[in-house]
Amino acid sequence: MIKDEAIDPAPLHGRTVAIIGFGNQGRAQALNLRDSGVRVVVGLRPGSGSEAEVRSAGFDVMTPAAAVRDADLAMLLAPDERLAAIYDEVAPGLRHGAAVGFSHGLAIHFGLIAPRPDLDVIMVAPKGPGTALRSLYLEGQGMVALAAVAQDASGAAWPLALAYAQALGCGRAGVIRSTFEEECVADLFNEGAVVWGAVPAILQAGFETLVAGGIQPEVAYLECVSELKLLAGLIEARGIAGTAEAISNTAEFGALLGGPAIVDRAVRGRMEGVLADVRSGAFVQALSDEAEADYPRLRAARQKARAGALEAARLRLLKQNR
Ligand SMILES: NC(=O)c1ccc[n+]([C@@H]2O[C@H](COP(=O)([O-])OP(=O)(O)OC[C@H]3O[C@@H](n4cnc5c(N)ncnc54)[C@H](OP(=O)(O)O)[C@@H]3O)[C@@H](O)[C@H]2O)c1
Repeated sequence: MIKDEAIDPAPLHGRTVAIIGFGNQGRAQALNLRDSGVRVVVGLRPGSGSEAEVRSAGFDVMTPAAAVRDADLAMLLAPDERLAAIYDEVAPGLRHGAAVGFSHGLAIHFGLIAPRPDLDVIMVAPKGPGTALRSLYLEGQGMVALAAVAQDASGAAWPLALAYAQALGCGRAGVIRSTFEEECVADLFNEGAVVWGAVPAILQAGFETLVAGGIQPEVAYLECVSELKLLAGLIEARGIAGTAEAISNTAEFGALLGGPAIVDRAVRGRMEGVLADVRSGAFVQALSDEAEADYPRLRAARQKARAGALEAARLRLLKQNR
């Protein structure tokens, strides 16, 4: 972990950072940088839905090409599957010897972008959503980030990445030196096979199993979904080992029998399959195809989840709690 004490902020002194995209990460990073004394300009495509928010945050709205013209560093913070097109748009305007940055390794590691050889290419990937990156910064705390250099044309790309991480507030929590490959493989694997893929799927399956077994949907929701928050809090505070010790013997014994029975060899084998699809680029190809077709699978999945029995139970509970 590299902390603030070991980071020199000088590489960003008097420099301009162009933030392209003002969504989850773009907004938080732009605001944290500005509050850290860095000059920030924001680039959005014409007619962008983010324009009003950019203006209300006190930034001028420019096109991506105009925003990068005077920038020393252009951070591309739009959806990953759009970054190659954005790079093609801004690259001709990036001055010789400037830097281009990312918050995820995907576009560079999988070769969606082949950066000009004169550019530094850096990554600072905060390990959490922009909302938390911003609120932690305002509380005087920070979010851990992975940082890396893919191309070091200037010989000073690494100190620039560290200074950028520091300006986001990440040096307060710690910066881990990584690579574009490591960050994106670990991140895509987790999204598919662990926290964002498997956990919601197992909550859904548990809810449906209880309801099919005659349990009221509200009770099934409280058991199988609501308690995740308790688990997350306990793991954060005490770790997985400490969590087992903190719950009742009944719960601990149930978990001891049930956990390994559910997450058996077959599940681990499928996890390895997810990892293989991430590493081979099969997942990134599927993501590009999905974007190309205007996200039919994502739209259908969102609609199905909204219309499902689990969401209905959640809404009924919410109404009764008001
Ligand atoms: N979200 C997270 O929790 C998180 C965490 C760590 C790292 N990251 C990484 O951070 C990067 C940004 O992710 P995000 O979740 O912040 O993205 P996001 O919220 O989906 O980004 C949306 C923003 O990108 C703009 N945008 C979309 N297409 C554009 C284009 N062609 N030209 C210019 N702007 C465009 C959108 O404006 P429009 O209104 O014009 O569409 C909007 O301002 C990604 O590399 C991601 O992997 C994300």
